[in-house]
Amino acid sequence: MSSYSIKSLEHYFKVYRQSVRKPKKFWSKIAENNFTWYRKWDKVVEYDMERAEFTWFKNAKLNITKNCIDRHLANKGDQSAIIFEPNDPNEPAQHFTYSQLYAEVSKMANVLRAQGVEKGDRVCIYLPMIPELAFSVLACARIGAIHSVVFAGFSANALATRINDSTCKLLITADGGYRGSKTIDLKRIVDEALHKSPTVEKVLVVKRTHQEIEMREGRDLWLQPLLDEAPPTSRAEMMDAEDPLFILYTSGSTGKPKGMVHTTAGYMVYTAYTFKNIFQYNEGDVYWCTADIGWVTGHSYIIYGPLLNGATTVIYEGTPSYPTHSRFWEVVQKHRVNQFYTAPTAIRSLAREKIEYIQEFRLDSLKVIGSVGEPINEEAWHWYNDHVGNKRCPLVDTWWQTETGGILISPIPFVTPTKPTYASLPFPGIQPVLMDELRNEIERNQQIGHLCIRYPWPGMARTIWGDHQRFIDTYFTAFPGKYFSGDGALRDEVGYYRITGRVDDVIIVSGHNLGTAPIEDAINEHQTVAESAIVGFPHEIKGNALYGFVVLKETGLWRDRQNLMKEINQLISDQIGPIAKLDKIQFVSGLPKTRSGKIMRRILRKIAVGESDFGDITTLINPEIVEEIKKGRT
Ligand code: PRX
Repeated sequence: MSSYSIKSLEHYFKVYRQSVRKPKKFWSKIAENNFTWYRKWDKVVEYDMERAEFTWFKNAKLNITKNCIDRHLANKGDQSAIIFEPNDPNEPAQHFTYSQLYAEVSKMANVLRAQGVEKGDRVCIYLPMIPELAFSVLACARIGAIHSVVFAGFSANALATRINDSTCKLLITADGGYRGSKTIDLKRIVDEALHKSPTVEKVLVVKRTHQEIEMREGRDLWLQPLLDEAPPTSRAEMMDAEDPLFILYTSGSTGKPKGMVHTTAGYMVYTAYTFKNIFQYNEGDVYWCTADIGWVTGHSYIIYGPLLNGATTVIYEGTPSYPTHSRFWEVVQKHRVNQFYTAPTAIRSLAREKIEYIQEFRLDSLKVIGSVGEPINEEAWHWYNDHVGNKRCPLVDTWWQTETGGILISPIPFVTPTKPTYASLPFPGIQPVLMDELRNEIERNQQIGHLCIRYPWPGMARTIWGDHQRFIDTYFTAFPGKYFSGDGALRDEVGYYRITGRVDDVIIVSGHNLGTAPIEDAINEHQTVAESAIVGFPHEIKGNALYGFVVLKETGLWRDRQNLMKEINQLISDQIGPIAKLDKIQFVSGLPKTRSGKIMRRILRKIAVGESDFGDITTLINPEIVEEIKKGRT
């Protein structure tokens, strides 16, 4: 039986054992049998966990778009590769067959080449969820340019920081974007960002909303006329296995975002293999992941994983509740979706609404439903399982990260029995370990620990763009010899993993990974603010919401509290984006600190949720502040 497609629990255990005992042989077989290579590898893997150096499929040559597109043309040229479902339900959906995808990507690749983009150049993509986003990503991969997609909800400042960090040469954007009832002025945001980003020489603009925008002579070009002139065929650049494919930014514990670098061959093998099994994708199925391509979920499981398997993947432009709370279900019914992958926050927001919103629709096409991005609570799990999956579709709770490239822990549908709130078992090739505070491995079950991975896997990030030391320090130092995820997990009596949440300064709000440091930096820019600390607190829909403790320079200003709150949230919106706004702000006269000056967030977290057992606070330099903050809790 092929190990590429796992069919039973017994088969899974067998494949898993092989993957751990002989990882090189295991990955070599997967890579050998399921992809097109210009040249095969000399060595499957070379690694050094201390220096965080990883080489997968050494010296192999390939182009990932040959695998995503060209090799499907002979048999699937007329099959839909992408179904585009617009924000407005009255706008017709668009289908792009594999042949059309080939032509669209080729035209875009030719335009990029004509604009002077070369192998290794960085291209920033700041687009709404429209087909051109997928075409741009694939066009970069086609010519060997490194794409850096920035989520179109990020502010001008956040965009500028990301462009500058990876010194992008060209940017692809749109006049505007639709999101539910709102229109987002993307080009205006780009114009603002580019005041601070001198490396961008050219801006290609997609016409989407037809709103009026400024076009800067010599820099800005409408994309469509260029595409109209471009040939619909293209040469795929020959890439080395370890050539960077993309950079994707994620929050960290300092203000600066981390540009995670993913390379070509390992990422390809890993996303394809996980997609195939975790969604049990079969020929002819229609697959829909509701994430935005601006996040890793969209990279790996809207574009690369599905297309590598010759799947039909849906790109949806809008939100879960536009124009009504039925929209997701309407789209499932309309396109006869077979696999549906979304985030707990969307589930929680829809579960609050009347059940009629879902009952009206036929969801019988669904075979597998999935969850990603944050822990799924028991109530949401059951609602999703009962009302969407109709108790007949396995619910895959998939745990992974921007850094991991693909899913690491997840049930395999019809193979692994599911258990509410448990991501369950590791995917073949993944060796999770739980570590205690003393850096010892926790071997017994029914324990909680820091979730680490013992052995490299092909899809893992290779470095942080421009800062390898930070890569080592963040992921390979806390537990030497292992990759540290930053998450805590519980392993139950049979070895199933349940992710308990972040153990560092990252807070997941509505499935978005937000570091506390960049938000605090934004707040501290306010002229009246001396310092601040952010913690998360449980929120019914978002999973976590943000609670800010803010110390002002002059207490007199406290009087204008409402206005100040607004201004602080505006600053956060400007610096990062509206997703990072605070739900609660409390003005305090000081923050609890250790003698070394470190803010004791543990105490603030407890105050935010209304707990009053703070444990030992005698190590603080200002223990009296705790009572004061507690009294003033909002
Ligand atoms: O805390 C974990 C949470 O999301 C973090 C990774 O965020 P990001 O890099 O933005 O990638 C999100 C999409 C893969 C993780 O460290 N997380 C992700 N999936 C789950 C999860 N927490 C619990 N259960 C999950 N299934």
